[in-house]
Amino acid sequence: MRDQAERLREMANQVRQQIEAELLQPHHSRVVAISSGKGGVGKSTLALNLALVLCAQGKRVLLLDADMGMANLDIMLGMVPKYNLFHMIQGKRKLEEIIIPGPQGMSIIPGGSGIQELANLPAGDMKRLLVELGKLDNDYDFMILDTGAGISQNVTTFLLAADDAIIITTPEPTALTDAYGVLKSMDRACYGGKVYLVVNRVTDDSEGILVAEKLKMVAQKYLDVDLVDLGHIINDACVSEGIRQQQPFVEIYPRSRATRNIVRIAEKLLAAHGEQSLSDLPETKPTGIKHFFRRILRSLQ
Ligand SMILES: Nc1ncnc2c1ncn2[C@@H]1O[C@H](COP(=O)(O)OP(=O)(O)OP(=O)(O)O)[C@@H](O)[C@H]1O
Ligand SMILES: [Mg+2]
Repeated sequence: MRDQAERLREMANQVRQQIEAELLQPHHSRVVAISSGKGGVGKSTLALNLALVLCAQGKRVLLLDADMGMANLDIMLGMVPKYNLFHMIQGKRKLEEIIIPGPQGMSIIPGGSGIQELANLPAGDMKRLLVELGKLDNDYDFMILDTGAGISQNVTTFLLAADDAIIITTPEPTALTDAYGVLKSMDRACYGGKVYLVVNRVTDDSEGILVAEKLKMVAQKYLDVDLVDLGHIINDACVSEGIRQQQPFVEIYPRSRATRNIVRIAEKLLAAHGEQSLSDLPETKPTGIKHFFRRILRSLQ
C-alpha cells in the first residue's frame, strides 16, 4: 500500500513539474509586417482591421505604426496620442510610455507624421527602437507592423526581419508591378520567412482568386518565391465610410462583405500558425520578437 501511495505521489509530482515547466515556456510574439509596392492600396486598413479581428479571437495584439514619418493609424481611429515614436527616438519617452490602448484591448504604438527624421532613421536609432521592441516579446501573440510602401531602407529592414510578410496589392497593373518589385527586392535580400498575398479592392471573389493566381505564378516562375494566397477584400463602400468616420469598418459594419473577408484572412493566418484547421496552409513556428530583433541587427550590419 505504502509503495503504491509513494508511486502516486511521485506521479503527481511529475505532472506538476511538467505543467510548471510548460507554463514557464517563454511565449513568443509572431511578427507580421504588412507592406506594398504602391502606396494607398490598403496596408493601414488591413493592419488595423486584421488586428481587431485577431483581438476579437482572443489574441493579444500590438499594432505598430511602422510607416515611419507618415503614420496615420491614430487618425484612422480618431485618436490624438500625446506621444509617438519620435519621442522615443529623441529619448524623451520610453517605448512602454508611448503605447496606447486601442479598441478590443489591442495596444498601439503611434508613429509620427510629417517627420523627416523618422522617414530616414539612422541604423543606430533603428537598433534602439528594436531593442525596446524585443523587451515586449512575451506580452503579445501578434505584433503587426503597418509599414510604408516601396523598398526604402526602413521598410526593407522591417520586412526582412518579420516572421511573416503580407504583401497587399490592388488588381491594377501598376500596383501589381510594384508588388512584384517588392517581392524581387525581398528575394534579392534573401528574405527567409513566409510571404503572403492579399488582393484588395476586388470587384468579386473570382477577380481576387484570378489576380492572386497570376501573381503567385509569376513569383514562382521568375523569383522562386512561394507566395501564399491569404485571400482578398472586396471593394466596399463600408471601408471608405469607416475611414471617414474614423472607426474601423469591422466594428461599425460587422456584417459587411469586407468584414467577412478580413475574418477569413485572420482565420487563414491563424491556420498557418497551426491554430485552426480551416486552411491547408503549412504550419510555421513562431520565432518571437527577440529573433526578429536579432535578424534586424544582422540586416543592419
Ligand atoms: N476594400 C476597400 N474598399 C474600398 N475602399 C478601400 C478599400 N481598401 C482601401 N480603401 C480606400 O483606400 C484608401 C487608402 O487605404 P490605406 O490608407 O489603408 O492604404 P495604405 O496602403 O495604408 O496607404 P499609404 O501607402 O498611404 O500608407 C482608404 O482611405 C480607403 O478609402
Ligand atoms: Mg498606410
